[in-house]
Amino acid sequence: MSDSMTTRRGALKAAACAAAALLTASASARAQQQRRPTAADIMGPFYPIVRPLDEDADLTRVAGQPGIAQGRVLDLRGRVLDTLGHPVAGAHIEMWQANTHGRYAHASDTNVTAPLDPAFQGFARQRTDTEGCFRFLTVIPGAYPVPDPDSPWLRTRHIHFDIRGQHDRLVTQIYFAGEPHNDTDRLYQALTPAERDTVTLDPRHAVAGAPAPLIGEWTVVLASG
Ligand SMILES: [Fe+2]
Repeated sequence: MSDSMTTRRGALKAAACAAAALLTASASARAQQQRRPTAADIMGPFYPIVRPLDEDADLTRVAGQPGIAQGRVLDLRGRVLDTLGHPVAGAHIEMWQANTHGRYAHASDTNVTAPLDPAFQGFARQRTDTEGCFRFLTVIPGAYPVPDPDSPWLRTRHIHFDIRGQHDRLVTQIYFAGEPHNDTDRLYQALTPAERDTVTLDPRHAVAGAPAPLIGEWTVVLASG
């Protein structure tokens, strides 16, 4: 790994909690609402049993691979709390997703007309720090077709998570506000509006020079932490 990459990844990690602390401060008025436990969702068929060799928090670069992942880069910042608002330190977080073209690096993905992206990591894991903070650098995933023989449909843009706290395990997916396929995504529509609020991000544009043009903020609430 190059010195510049080491430095970049270190900076990403070091800034994680500062970002989430800002998130907590700005979201204080919403704190009561956010203590509703985050909605669960299905694991889906593409959890990577075969892990990539590189599984650090920066999914936009793959160790030993030149270039950067295609797509819109997202700085995903978050925090894991219990329902009383206490941070969950040391929570194990795994995330996996399709690339910008809607393709998973998984042998079972039938969406083979969409290209793979060798510079996109596709899976990452991290543990929350003492403040319950985490941070990933990734790209906005593409929507992809679901090969239902009776009624094909499109999965809207989403990212999968498996989060293990001190007491609870939460498998879920996050979504993005305003996406045209949200209204017809069968999993998203199976959630109640209140549940959707716990898993829907509305990324904002970052200032010039930031690690990514988009910043997404998410508070995860585990029932018992
Ligand atoms: Fe998926």
